[in-house]
Amino acid sequence: MSHALHRYFHANASGSTGSNGSSSDVKTIGAPYALVTGATGGMGEEWALQLAELGFNIIIQGRNRTKLEAVKAQISKRHAAASSRNAGDAVDVRLLVCEATIYPNAGLTDGLAAVLSDSSIRLTVLINNLGVNVTHFPRLEDTRSEEIAEIVIANSFFPAETARICLPHLKRHQPALLVTVTSLGAWATPPYLAPYIGTKGFDVAFSDSLRNEQISEGTQVDVVCMAPGQVQSGMCNEPVGLMIPTSKDWVTSAIASLRSTWWTPVPAAVIAPWTPHAWGQWFTALAPRCIIGPMSRNIIKDLKAKEVDARKGL
Ligand SMILES: NC(=O)c1ccc[n+]([C@@H]2O[C@H](COP(=O)([O-])OP(=O)(O)OC[C@H]3O[C@@H](n4cnc5c(N)ncnc54)[C@H](OP(=O)(O)O)[C@@H]3O)[C@@H](O)[C@H]2O)c1
Repeated sequence: MSHALHRYFHANASGSTGSNGSSSDVKTIGAPYALVTGATGGMGEEWALQLAELGFNIIIQGRNRTKLEAVKAQISKRHAAASSRNAGDAVDVRLLVCEATIYPNAGLTDGLAAVLSDSSIRLTVLINNLGVNVTHFPRLEDTRSEEIAEIVIANSFFPAETARICLPHLKRHQPALLVTVTSLGAWATPPYLAPYIGTKGFDVAFSDSLRNEQISEGTQVDVVCMAPGQVQSGMCNEPVGLMIPTSKDWVTSAIASLRSTWWTPVPAAVIAPWTPHAWGQWFTALAPRCIIGPMSRNIIKDLKAKEVDARKGL
């Protein structure tokens, strides 16, 4: 198989340094696994569907078993249709049912360790996608203490703990990929979202530090931070346009951006895969704060006004 993620679609056995198990051997020992968190909607569901289409077996995490079963059924249905054309093997879909907003989180810590203890699972891809936000743009002092804790735990502790548990497995089956999803908001820092934006800044720095750690250790675990702007999903119901892709289109561009090439086998540290978002990221990273601040404030003012109208039923 040769596709965007072929670097991670291989048959390396436990303890291998990662260069021998070719993708053709995958036919003999079975496809590697990709774990996607927050896979019951939005971009997470798309990551799961599209990674399965590329041939990966999938572990999907969510807090709602019924929704996870529905995503599993969708993957199996699509795969069955494709297999009838390509004579492919069935995709194996495992479920990890656990909350994301609590600490300590035995469902995650013990549940994920239990899933990965199955020696037939060769994990080569982790997509730390899950993210939680409040959508009504409250002032910080109007936000409940529990809401702040939930956002901080789900967006910071949860991806760090997931990575901690997965890393020994990713190293064992390297080359491997560890993606953490942040937000362009980490650069634009819009108002009325301080806890969420703070955690998205955490995701950027966490991912970069972990990438440096892997390089220092000489591993082939490629650590990447992915930066969406607005994407239509459960978190954002704005109309689709140039700056607001569908979750499907965003994930398609995200997977394409991870492709290794002859000049660089390893993806960049931070990627804004949707091109108009990448322009936004460059602009917000380079322009002075006296320009970015008013722009961010105006965008949120409009979104906040729309949200108030929606709540009033206007
Ligand atoms: N969409 C955007 O405009 C946008 C912009 C920048 C960054 N991002 C980031 O992109 C990633 C994916 O976002 P998305 O928009 O695709 O998300 P989404 O559609 O809101 O949610 C997708 C997943 O997150 C789970 N989830 C939501 N709230 C939860 C909670 N309180 N506790 C536990 N699980 C919860 C959902 O589970 P249930 O199905 O059970 O609710 C679902 O599995 C996140 O990290 C987000 O911060 C999104």
